Amino acid sequence: MEDQMTSPQVESAEERKQPVSGNGRLPLLVGGIVVFVVVALALGLGLGLGLGLKHHSHAAATPTSSNLSPPTPSGGPTVASENVESWRRATLDYSLDMTWDINAAPTTRVFNFTISEIQAAPDGVIRPLLVINGQFPGPLIRVNRGDRVLVNVTNGLVNGTTLHWHGLYQNGTNWMDGSTGITQCPIPPGKSFLYNFTVENQYGTYWYHSHYGTQYNDGLVGPFIVHAPEEAAIQKSYDFDQVILLQDWYHDFSTGLLDEYLASGNENAEPIPDNGLIQGTNYFNCSSYDSDSGYTCQDNSTRAAFNLTKDKRYRFRLINTGAFAEFQFSIDNHTLSVIEADSTLIEPVTVHRLPIHIAQRYSVIFTANQTASNYWLRAQMTTDCFSSDNPVLDADITALITYTNTTTAPTDSTDWTDALLLECKDLNTTLLVPAEAEPAPSQDTTYVINVSFQIGNYALDKAYINSTTWTPAKTPTLNQAVAGLKAGNSTFNAAGLSSAYDTSSQFIIDIPVTQTVDLLINSLDEGAHPFHLHGHQFWIMAAGGGYFDWASYESLNKNASVGNPMRRDTMTIPAYGWTLIRFVADNPGLWALHCHISWHMESGLLMQFQTRNDIMRGWTIPGDVLALCDA
Ligand code: C2O
Repeated sequence: MEDQMTSPQVESAEERKQPVSGNGRLPLLVGGIVVFVVVALALGLGLGLGLGLKHHSHAAATPTSSNLSPPTPSGGPTVASENVESWRRATLDYSLDMTWDINAAPTTRVFNFTISEIQAAPDGVIRPLLVINGQFPGPLIRVNRGDRVLVNVTNGLVNGTTLHWHGLYQNGTNWMDGSTGITQCPIPPGKSFLYNFTVENQYGTYWYHSHYGTQYNDGLVGPFIVHAPEEAAIQKSYDFDQVILLQDWYHDFSTGLLDEYLASGNENAEPIPDNGLIQGTNYFNCSSYDSDSGYTCQDNSTRAAFNLTKDKRYRFRLINTGAFAEFQFSIDNHTLSVIEADSTLIEPVTVHRLPIHIAQRYSVIFTANQTASNYWLRAQMTTDCFSSDNPVLDADITALITYTNTTTAPTDSTDWTDALLLECKDLNTTLLVPAEAEPAPSQDTTYVINVSFQIGNYALDKAYINSTTWTPAKTPTLNQAVAGLKAGNSTFNAAGLSSAYDTSSQFIIDIPVTQTVDLLINSLDEGAHPFHLHGHQFWIMAAGGGYFDWASYESLNKNASVGNPMRRDTMTIPAYGWTLIRFVADNPGLWALHCHISWHMESGLLMQFQTRNDIMRGWTIPGDVLALCDA
């Protein structure tokens, strides 16, 4: 069957059924524009339709194809969107099989990841895309607590790469943390590296991504799920478990955008996303681009669709794998019960909308108890955090929830009337109460850092933590510190760093032995910053606008040691505000603390903690890790 106007995608005759019109194309009259939609079916399931209208318009319903196959026998949450391009991740791949044994004995789980660059169009606009084993987004990693994980990464790119396991403690394996310039040199082009670590003392929803420049924004992201026997109770409250990746999306490769962002005179105007993706896919209205735009756009791209079985209960594990945009997540007509934030199970909180900033994770549970056939699932960008408008951006990113295994645009699905947030911020931390209480011990030491953007020489705008603007060290700070601690002579400071180390690019707080650290982060910036601490969870002790009131510190301290403050690994520092976090610095190594907005990290918004010199002194960094720096 021929398709002259649409896609280069390869579809076998078998996969492609012809439900509506003889040529597999379905002309839709939408707002006076004829939109041709390829109705392709794979796995006997319907394709999410690319609708030539914004989802707010309920004027035009898309005809439903007539011979869709019955819902998946398992009643699993996903259908549709099983696009036939071989690079496209099937939504079902992120559907977690409920027969998984959370009590299984520890084992070794081996993954082989080959990273390469292809040309592909997640939302219809063709661009270079970085893929793992040929697919985007990356493969699901799913393990039990206690398992050893081996990920053999082969770098088929022209640049270096790394993978970072966001949220994993890496206790004793700091060199497996994947942070360029901190715990390793990048894996050189054409070379392989084996990440080898054991997941201990933690479970929940995590993810992995490249930690080399802004590279993850070009496709190198994937979910990392850790199970544990303690989940048995919460598992009783859902029938299906589905991972959903939300991310903003750019039609240009990130390195070009980064150059523009960091250019002289740009004054911290971050690149504004062109679109957003849910499960790596979305519709884009190709007519947004003029014919001379330089972009090649196919109007057949599709939204993701999730098939529901009536009265079943679903856990959706949301991960914001984007570069810049916060999302407000909701499902029309379905109230959400939030039960997990960044791998911490919490007492259920009922919401209609859930803000989720870069690198954060939330699990929500809802019941499929509605009566219409299809509804919108929405991830609406908080555009008030953008410094300007992008005329091609439709910030209301949507996917389909379907009770009828169809891809019909809902006709009567309306957004909640709850006001959308007008600033980027987290769900009120006081609402988040860990289900397993862990009082914060009282603090041993307190640090204050100030976050700012400053315009310096040549009108270059850089991000600062105190007076340091980070650039990755050529020799990772871990390697420097271990060597210096070993040598232990006067050319090194107490942290093992050369007394001549460059404090203008490396801000390292040295915590030589286990201590409980309070860190007050003050933001002198007009933007909100989702900060992530590697290797730890922290307690959020307090947060606010303006300046922290030190008079409240003592009582806060007392309350914390009896209380149960929220603990997570990524939280948003409000604009011109502060957040006080506490963590136990007992994990040996070099740990980044940074804003997870890619543009900001690359602009310098990163510092490091060096902890447990007493242990690091005895370390021998594995030879294959050190050898990465020989390239
Ligand atoms: Cu999600 Cu420094 O990382």
